Formats: sequence, structure tokens, C-alpha cells
Amino acid sequence: MNPQFARPLSATTRMVAVLGAPIRHSASPAMHNAALAQLGLDWRYVACAVVPDKLREALEGARHLGFVGLNLTVPHKLLALPLMDELDASARLWGAVNTVVFEAKNAADEWQPVGQLAEVRGPVRAHGYNTDADAIIRSLREDLGLEPRSARVLLLGAGGAGRAAALRLADEGVEELWLVNRTVEKAEALAAEIAERFPSVDVRVGYPESEVELVLNATSVGLKSGDGLPFTAANFSLKQADCVYDMIYRPAETPLLQAARAAGCRTANGLGMLLYQGAAALELWTGQVAPVEVMRAALEVEIYGQA
Ligand code: ATR
Repeated sequence: MNPQFARPLSATTRMVAVLGAPIRHSASPAMHNAALAQLGLDWRYVACAVVPDKLREALEGARHLGFVGLNLTVPHKLLALPLMDELDASARLWGAVNTVVFEAKNAADEWQPVGQLAEVRGPVRAHGYNTDADAIIRSLREDLGLEPRSARVLLLGAGGAGRAAALRLADEGVEELWLVNRTVEKAEALAAEIAERFPSVDVRVGYPESEVELVLNATSVGLKSGDGLPFTAANFSLKQADCVYDMIYRPAETPLLQAARAAGCRTANGLGMLLYQGAAALELWTGQVAPVEVMRAALEVEIYGQA
């Protein structure tokens, strides 16, 4: 069969999904279904709108419906932590879950992803991973040419994505990390955790007065039409920044990225992060090497209308 065409849906088709709210903007189905077709798998990837107080039920439903795995996006990445049966070191280290692998026991009585088992018998457990943290570092290097080590960074957002990025950037050895969040207590708690775990990083809550190499948006501000900037313009000028990265990829250019381009900053949207977190998740579910270039091309068509 031509791998570019999806296998027809049948009674043996296996399911993967992304859960979030909002979710209709998600480019993950386009990226993953292209990859699944390329791998010749009888699987489909769908997007499900799930509100936070139904996350537990949605996870249980997916487990019992025989889903292979899940991705989690806004606002579930922190909420999922206590709902997992098992946390991978990545989820523990970076403090958020964006990928769930459903696992069952194999013939040797070892836990294995259900996507890699011909038959699922016995209990199924939810194993939480974080593939966002490494993806953002790789995308910063590739898409902005930015080396995080020794950089000064203003990070907007201390939710699941912001927390993972902050901890991973601290681990990478940034020099200064400025944290801003609508709910200040969350930024303060994150700053305290970083100060304890990464004492060489100068971490503060608030806006820098001097220049920074990077402004990183990990809030959901910019996702909805009519959204403005994710920071208070009176407190910070984009003229202070070399590079601006927005984890949002739809719209492809948020008001933040537009303003950053006008201020002469190097800019990138979240396509690269989406790609690399998705490739890593796909490898966990399938045990196969992800067709990264097929996934990138599918994302480019989805987001820009052309590869
Ligand atoms: P995710 O799991 O994808 O990171 P999240 O944990 O809900 O999603 O995080 C969303 C981030 O966007 C948080 O930093 C959130 O701020 P709060 O911690 O105060 O909720 C931020 N955010 C969402 N809507 C916002 C808004 N209208 N203005 C400013 N920040 C907002």
C-alpha cells in the first residue's frame, strides 16, 4: 500500500487523541495522521475538546476505549500530573505531562505500550511523559539560532508549558530567568523551585529593566482573535529583546510576534516545538522512528497553506 495514503478506517483501527480546551486550532491531527500513514499504521489521531473538570473522566474513557495514547495541551499539562499511574523522569523533572502512553503487561509480564502489543490483556496503566521540554530547546536552537546557555530570558507563563520550559532552560544553564504570570503566586512558586534546584540561575519574578536575549511566550494569550500582548507594555519594551519565541503556532503570527518583528527582533512561532514534541510522542507510542520531515511538511501545509 502507498504509505502516503491512510489505511481505511476499520474495526481494527486504533486511536490516539489530543485533549485540550480550546482544541479546534490544533495542528496535531494533521501532523500525526500524516506520520501514521507514512508508517503504514492502522491508527488515527483525533482532537477532543475536554474541559479541565472532565480530564479525569476523559483519561479513564480513553484508557477503557483502548486508546494507544494521548497528548495533553492547554489547560491540562499540570492537572494531569496526579492523574497518572506512572510518571516518567521527564514528567517528574520538568513538572508537567504532555504525552500519555497507555501500557499493559506483555507475555514476559513487563509493562509495554499498548500500541506495540498485538493483544491487550489485564489492567492498562497511564504513563505520563514530558516531550515539550526538550522540544523547546531544540526549536530555539534551530529556529532562532539561540544558545540558551548563559542567556537572559523573560518567560511569560507559569502553567504546564511555562513550567516545563523554565525548568529545562534552568537546567540548560541560562544566566538570568525572569518569570511573569497572570497568577503571580504560580510564578513565585516556580521561581522558588528553580532557586532551590538550580542555584546558579539568577531567577526573579517580574520584568527585566535591561536587555534579554529571549522573550518566550508560554501563555495562551494570542490564541484567540482579539487577544493582545501577553505582557504589560508599560513594564517591558520589545526593543530590549533580541529574539521572541511564541509557543503558539496558530495564528502563525500572533500579535506578540507581529510587534516583535516590527521592533526588529528575530522571531519564531511554535511550529518547531510542536513538531519535536510530537515526534518524540509518536516514537513512545509506536516504538518506531518518527518520519520527522513528513510531519514537518504536514504542519507547514496546515499552518501556512503550503510546505
Ligand atoms: P498549559 O498546560 O498548556 O501550559 P495552563 O497550565 O492552563 O496550560 O497555562 C496557561 C498559561 O496561560 C498560564 O500561564 C495562564 O496564566 P494563569 O497561571 O494565571 O492561569 C496563562 N493565561 C491564560 N489566559 C490568560 C490571560 N487571559 N491573560 C494572561 N495569562 C493567561
